[in-house]
Amino acid sequence: MTDDLRLLENGLEIPLSDGVRAYFNYHWLRDNCPSSFDRATRERVFDIFHLQAPPRPSQAYVADGALHIAWAGENHASTYALDWLAPYGRGERRADPADLPRKAWYSDHYARMARFRQPDLKADKALVAAWIEALLVDGVALVTDMPDSDEGLTETVRLIGQVRPTFFGDYFDVRTHIKPTNLAYTAKALELHTDTPAEEMAPGVQFLHCRANSVAGGDSLFLDGVAAANDFRDAYPEDFRLLSETEIPFYCEHDDYDMRSRQRVIELDKHGAVSGLTISQHMADVFDLPQADLDAYYPAFCRFGRWLQGEKYVMRFRLNAGECIVFDNHRIVHGRAAYVAESGARYLRGTYSDREEMRSTYRSLVSKGRFG
Ligand SMILES: [Fe+2]
Repeated sequence: MTDDLRLLENGLEIPLSDGVRAYFNYHWLRDNCPSSFDRATRERVFDIFHLQAPPRPSQAYVADGALHIAWAGENHASTYALDWLAPYGRGERRADPADLPRKAWYSDHYARMARFRQPDLKADKALVAAWIEALLVDGVALVTDMPDSDEGLTETVRLIGQVRPTFFGDYFDVRTHIKPTNLAYTAKALELHTDTPAEEMAPGVQFLHCRANSVAGGDSLFLDGVAAANDFRDAYPEDFRLLSETEIPFYCEHDDYDMRSRQRVIELDKHGAVSGLTISQHMADVFDLPQADLDAYYPAFCRFGRWLQGEKYVMRFRLNAGECIVFDNHRIVHGRAAYVAESGARYLRGTYSDREEMRSTYRSLVSKGRFG
């Protein structure tokens, strides 16, 4: 029994190993007894909703680096390691190994872009972790030596998550179509954009597998939205505020679909840092904001659109057959220079997965989780 332990009305107070006293709520303690979790399923099997009365200790003491509690009114005792309790006592959020700081990059990034051979990724989980790390930190990576097959793309996606369909289906083909429903399916220049902004939850990770590219022109244009938006925040703070707070409408409409959403052009994460962009001139709907608000919004929107095209940001390169560029669709803005349709073949096959699924895979690869 320790004299240092104080039983209060709704919780108890104990000294932690660093000498600081910490308070723990009785409901929280009862709910998180180690026996509440099933080792096999790793799920919580205790249901606090079924307790007849608020949990109260009949006895509590600290011994051998652990807090021991016998619960009143039920035949149950709990033991908690003080080391396990400490971060919760300090009110800390659970550490997330996938919450890596983003590193801004600029137009000269191509030579430094993370590259992985597809057969190596299939053979080595540590390389998959390094690949995802590049996608979390840089937002873009190149996978080389791709099999020249549809399956090759699917098995590559599956290394980090499931194929995530959009309303266009599971996969899309970028080549010149006779009756195009999308500017991507022509040989014209494709202005800088993020994909499917008209979906409320646009897919998070994009895969573009180049199967053929022998045309004249058609260079890929990629830029880091985080780099551009961070600089823009310094240069035009008021414009940045408007673009990160105002929702504008996006659409995608044809004979048998009419997709609509409202998005902020600049996306901020829970830390207030820029985590991505949503931008697409060919899918921006008619702005239905109060007209007077557009007096400030349109100049900010145009300034940012021109800012993104700056030579400082746009990485230009040729995507070669056998390469698959993988990137964060909410962060990396991409486009294509015009090409000469008759000059050869150009075929890109694409699909998506999600950011959260990628982070989940990363955590499972680099950490043990709570049950490890
Ligand atoms: Fe695209």
